[in-house]
Amino acid sequence: MEKFYITTPIYYPSANFHIGHCYTTIIADAIARYKRLTGYDVFFLTGTDEHGQKIENKAKENNVTPKEYVDKIVDNAKDLWKSLGISYDKFIRTTDKYHEEAVQKIFTRLYEQGDIYKGEYEGLYCTPCESFWTESQLVDGKCPDCGREVHPVKEESYFFKLSKYQDKIVKYYNSHPDFIQPESRKNEMINNFIKPGLEDLCVSRTTFNWGIPVTFDSKHVIYVWIDALTNYITALGYLSDDDTLFKKYWPADLHLVGKEIVRFHTIIWPALLMALDLPLPKKVFGHGWLVLDGGKISKSNGNYKDPREYIKDYGVDAVRYFALREVSFGNDGNFSEEALINRTNADLVNTLGNLLNRTISMSYKYFGGKVLNDNINEEIDDDLINTASNLYKVVEDKMNNLRVNEALEEIINLLRKCNKYIDDTTPWILAKDEANNGRLSTILYNLLESIRIATVLLQPFIPSTTEKIFDQLNISKKDYNSSKTFGVLEVNSKLKEPKPLFERIEKKL
Ligand code: MSP
Repeated sequence: MEKFYITTPIYYPSANFHIGHCYTTIIADAIARYKRLTGYDVFFLTGTDEHGQKIENKAKENNVTPKEYVDKIVDNAKDLWKSLGISYDKFIRTTDKYHEEAVQKIFTRLYEQGDIYKGEYEGLYCTPCESFWTESQLVDGKCPDCGREVHPVKEESYFFKLSKYQDKIVKYYNSHPDFIQPESRKNEMINNFIKPGLEDLCVSRTTFNWGIPVTFDSKHVIYVWIDALTNYITALGYLSDDDTLFKKYWPADLHLVGKEIVRFHTIIWPALLMALDLPLPKKVFGHGWLVLDGGKISKSNGNYKDPREYIKDYGVDAVRYFALREVSFGNDGNFSEEALINRTNADLVNTLGNLLNRTISMSYKYFGGKVLNDNINEEIDDDLINTASNLYKVVEDKMNNLRVNEALEEIINLLRKCNKYIDDTTPWILAKDEANNGRLSTILYNLLESIRIATVLLQPFIPSTTEKIFDQLNISKKDYNSSKTFGVLEVNSKLKEPKPLFERIEKKL
């Protein structure tokens, strides 16, 4: 079985997660589920990035230890992932002992082989973003990421020889044109960072304690990026007693990250892996942000609700569907409750829910809920049957290119076609004359089969809804292959009573 290793960024547990974090995680989950459905041996990793000054400060503000502070947020995050149906295989915390030990070994090894050296850091530091900046990178004298004050710092630090890997990184980009996606992000990396020249990277700090100590120089703690990026290999047991998973799954097939951290994943991470003599990930996809009134939804903007409130009000699959469908993947997209409601009503309630309900209700009304098919086909059926039969190929092509929203659009299009097919074939008129029963049975069969195929392919995206549909269709075959054949639903089987899948959302905002 071919393997597929997919990761989300590890999130900072500095506050409870918002819908922006859900966005990345839901997309990763849908891709992981899709790969599993199509026969891959998937390993899906997510987790939390728990060290650093910001967390240390937050804990102080709250009069608790950093570990107590992050423990609470991690519990909350795990509960959130559970309510969203996130099917991760492993949740890594950078405070896990195996991770800390592996990071120390990595740091020591890089030091011993001369890739890390001791020096002095002088620069400007943004505490909330945990980022160093040079004078020329500032915007109006402030942090270019968050717009807040930066502070001059001067301290003894260890440095990683990033500059040494510049040519090798460029070579890698050239020989692996798909490494950075979308293409525009690759150009950004080359023009904004590589062309001006890579500088060596500060990888340790002495001004805070909440981090992994450098084993051979204990006043230093390892600064965020070496600690964070390496999670993708330590989670698999790299440099531990048992590295079976590492041997099986590394290199990653896909690191899914927000656009603001593409630089770390496509410059620093490859250089670290080169220094460790390890293969590089196959792909880094930098997606856009969910924005709210033009601004990024973020902890520091404070402009968000607990995502569980949306789940409670609209259902888990409405939230998942919105994240997967609304935004053209790679670009920024607007998030609002109104857009979530409109999207749910249009696609899930009207197109999918009504179609299922109409079709099963007609099957009950005309044939007592029995699946029948007298094979009386007409030309009008061809387009529907062809679209349904080929859907898996179209979806596969979209998913392989990570066009998740387009994959969903294709599936919804089939359902729209079904609704139009009902309007065009007018079963309620045929039903007036028993002589049409044969044709009527075929029309209903074509509809049920199209719905079934769409449902098989919808499983990775809205898994709790597809369970309900399978239940009403009374079918246990849900595997990928069953989406490749039109005619799997058994004649003479019995459907379950129609039950609305969704309620129309009438909420006034
Ligand atoms: N800890 C680092 C990542 C280390 S990975 C080795 C970090 N954490 S974070 O908590 O700030 O979250 C980063 C990720 O959360 C982003 O890269 C992005 O995937 C996701 N998002 C956070 N806010 C988001 C939006 N408003 N919209 C979409 N995604 C967002 O950076």
